[in-house]
Amino acid sequence: MDFLINGAPVSAEVDVRTSLLDLLREHLRLTGTKKGCDQGACGACTVLVDGERINSCLALAVQYQGREITTVEGLAQGSQLHPMQKAFIAHDGFQCGYCTPGQLCSALGMQEEFQRGVPSHVTADLASEHLVLSHDELRERMSGNLCRCGAYNGIVDAIADALDAPQAAKQEAA
Ligand code: FES
Ligand code: FES
Repeated sequence: MDFLINGAPVSAEVDVRTSLLDLLREHLRLTGTKKGCDQGACGACTVLVDGERINSCLALAVQYQGREITTVEGLAQGSQLHPMQKAFIAHDGFQCGYCTPGQLCSALGMQEEFQRGVPSHVTADLASEHLVLSHDELRERMSGNLCRCGAYNGIVDAIADALDAPQAAKQEAA
């Protein structure tokens, strides 16, 4: 099977029942993407496919041939960390770091959804063309990514900083 991962073509012979997560970790040794629950409940395995975030543990690799897959290994440009990665460091958006690759990919996918005007469960005005990334909006939109260390305050602040949405970070402190 042929895949496009982090901008590079990759071939792998895997069983058609292999999950995208297992393809990445077990066959390609891209172990940045983490396995938490392996059943779609924690978000540790989040990767981007054509810019959209998915839980790779719930995805069959065979279905993602020819799609543009981005993992945490593909976020930095050489030695230059992605601005989202820098923000997580600046705001202490992690402790053990196990959830962090998923948080990073999810935050970037969330940004894309928000820019497209996709509403969330807490969006008050579904018809509005000017969504505001408030504290509640950001938390709701990232609620699929659990952090067992409870580093949520730093995670929210980091994402708000990277997305230039200060109202998302400061409401809790107010
Ligand atoms: S490992 Fe995929 S959602 Fe938990
Ligand atoms: S930093 Fe440890 S699980 Fe999130």
